[in-house]
Amino acid sequence: MTLVTADLAMSLDGFVAGTDVSLDNPGGHGGEPLFHWIHDLASWRERQGMTGGEENRDSDIMREWFDATGAVVMGRLMYDTGEKPWGDNPPFRAPVFVLTHRPAPSLVKQGGTSFTFVTDGIHSALEQAKAAAGGRNVDIAGGARTVQQFLRAGLVDELQLHVIPVLLGGGLRLFDHIGPDQRKLEVIRVVDTPRATHLKYRVLA
Ligand SMILES: NC(=O)c1ccc[n+]([C@@H]2O[C@H](COP(=O)([O-])OP(=O)(O)OC[C@H]3O[C@@H](n4cnc5c(N)ncnc54)[C@H](OP(=O)(O)O)[C@@H]3O)[C@@H](O)[C@H]2O)c1
Repeated sequence: MTLVTADLAMSLDGFVAGTDVSLDNPGGHGGEPLFHWIHDLASWRERQGMTGGEENRDSDIMREWFDATGAVVMGRLMYDTGEKPWGDNPPFRAPVFVLTHRPAPSLVKQGGTSFTFVTDGIHSALEQAKAAAGGRNVDIAGGARTVQQFLRAGLVDELQLHVIPVLLGGGLRLFDHIGPDQRKLEVIRVVDTPRATHLKYRVLA
C-alpha cells in the first residue's frame, strides 16, 4: 500500500534549515549540523555513486527510506537549491514532483530520477506522485513550507524526524502554519544513536 511519508532532519529546537536560505546558502546560516550527519553513511554514499562509508543504524534508516520511496514531492526552493549539488544522477532514483508557481519543462536525469513541475497544487502533485510510485511510498521531502501544507491538509500518514542534538536558535521552523486543530500521533519507532534520535510516528486522523 502506498503511504505518504515526510522525513526530515530537525534540530532539537525545531528547525529544518538555518536562517536566510538562498541559492548560495541552501541550508541557511547555521543549518550545517542538520545535513552533516548523513554524509559519511554508506547508504548515502552509495546513492551518490561512491563506495565505502559507515554501515550503522543511521545508514540502515537512510537505506530504508531509499528502498521504500517510489516517488517524491518537493517545493521549488528545495529543488532550486538542490539542483546543482544533485548533479546529473540525483539520489532520488524515482519520479520527483516539484510544487511551483513557475512552470518549467520536465527533466529526465540519470538513474531513474525525473523532475515534473506541478503548478496546480498539492492534491494534484500527490495524485501524480501516487500514480508514479509503483505501489511504494510517496515522500514529501521538503522544505518546511511544502511539508506544512501536506500536514495541514491531513495528507501525511507517517512522519519521521531525525532529531539532531543541536540548538540552532533560529531558522526555518517545521511546525509553523499547520493549522489550529490538535493532531494525535502514535509512536512507531524510536532509534537513538550518537548522531540523531530517529523518531517515527503514524499521524492519526
Ligand atoms: N532538514 C531537512 O531534512 C530538509 C529537507 C528538505 C529541505 N530542507 C530545507 O528546506 C529549505 C527550503 O524550504 P522552504 O520551506 O523554504 O521551501 P520549499 O517548501 O522547498 O519551497 C517553497 C516554494 O515551493 C513552491 N510551492 C510550495 N507550495 C506550493 C503550492 N501549493 N503551489 C505552488 N507552488 C508551491 C513555491 O515556489 P515558487 O512560488 O517560487 O514557484 C514556494 O515558494 C532549504 O533550506 C532546504 O535545505 C531541509
